Amino acid sequence: MKRLKRTEAYDVSLDIKDDHFINPPKETQRNAVVNRALKEFCADLNALNEQSKNFVPGETSANDFVGFTDREQALLSDQEIMEDWQIPLMEAMAKAITRGGGDILEVGFGRGVSADMIQKYSIDSHTIIECNDNVIDEYFNSWKATYTDKDIRLVHGLWQDTIDDLGRYDGILFHTYPLNEDEYMEYVNASITFAEHFFSYASEHLKPGGSFTYFSNEIQSLSREHQHLLLKYFSSFNVSVVSLKIPQNVKDTWWADSMVVIEAVK
Ligand SMILES: C[S@@+](CC[C@H](N)C(=O)[O-])C[C@H]1O[C@@H](n2cnc3c(N)ncnc32)[C@H](O)[C@@H]1O
Repeated sequence: MKRLKRTEAYDVSLDIKDDHFINPPKETQRNAVVNRALKEFCADLNALNEQSKNFVPGETSANDFVGFTDREQALLSDQEIMEDWQIPLMEAMAKAITRGGGDILEVGFGRGVSADMIQKYSIDSHTIIECNDNVIDEYFNSWKATYTDKDIRLVHGLWQDTIDDLGRYDGILFHTYPLNEDEYMEYVNASITFAEHFFSYASEHLKPGGSFTYFSNEIQSLSREHQHLLLKYFSSFNVSVVSLKIPQNVKDTWWADSMVVIEAVK
């Protein structure tokens, strides 16, 4: 089966060599689904063409993460922990996760920006998993001291080592970063979205109807591959597109002026 899609800007050619590949009962069904897949691919290219016109150059490339030093206990500046342009993403995630109140789990404290926003909503408890001793000394301890009357619990360690001892939550916010090159290769390069490696844990630690939130490096929608993965672990999801004031010299590997925040419901 051959298909060719020609436009002024590009040609896409598809040659399905295996007759058993996409082989429903009727030939018309095969034509319909293959044509739709090709149409969707071209629509995605056209969307990327438009979106990439607004990219900023940035200062970092994905290659910069090869050989980068271990960050588990690194002493980092505010902007190295999280650049300010990400703050609207924290707002969207804090709002999504606190909708139903209850018990909230936050994975990765960082500067405490999202933690502070979570506390603005009416919740019962706020459990935070954080591995970096410097983050706890420099940011967490003073932040917690401003909320003496709130139920805030710190779980000090890697989430991978501690989550099995935790129960179920009404909301889970996941915002970590890769700690070393191996994590970068696995969680960023080889994944559909960074939070993918946490999906099964999020699903296991959510109460029925509870929601899990994270942001994804996608500009204005979710890929079909990403949606398939979400629906394997969760019953439904919401996607919001968050506008960003992305600086020309952004250090993170992101260059577009929006990103998506996902709220997946167990
Ligand atoms: C980008 S920061 C979080 C920023 C935070 N949302 C804010 O608003 O400031 C990521 C945090 O996750 C922590 N972290 C990274 N990997 C972790 C892991 N495997 N377990 C626990 N904490 C982790 C880092 O030490 C860092 O403090």
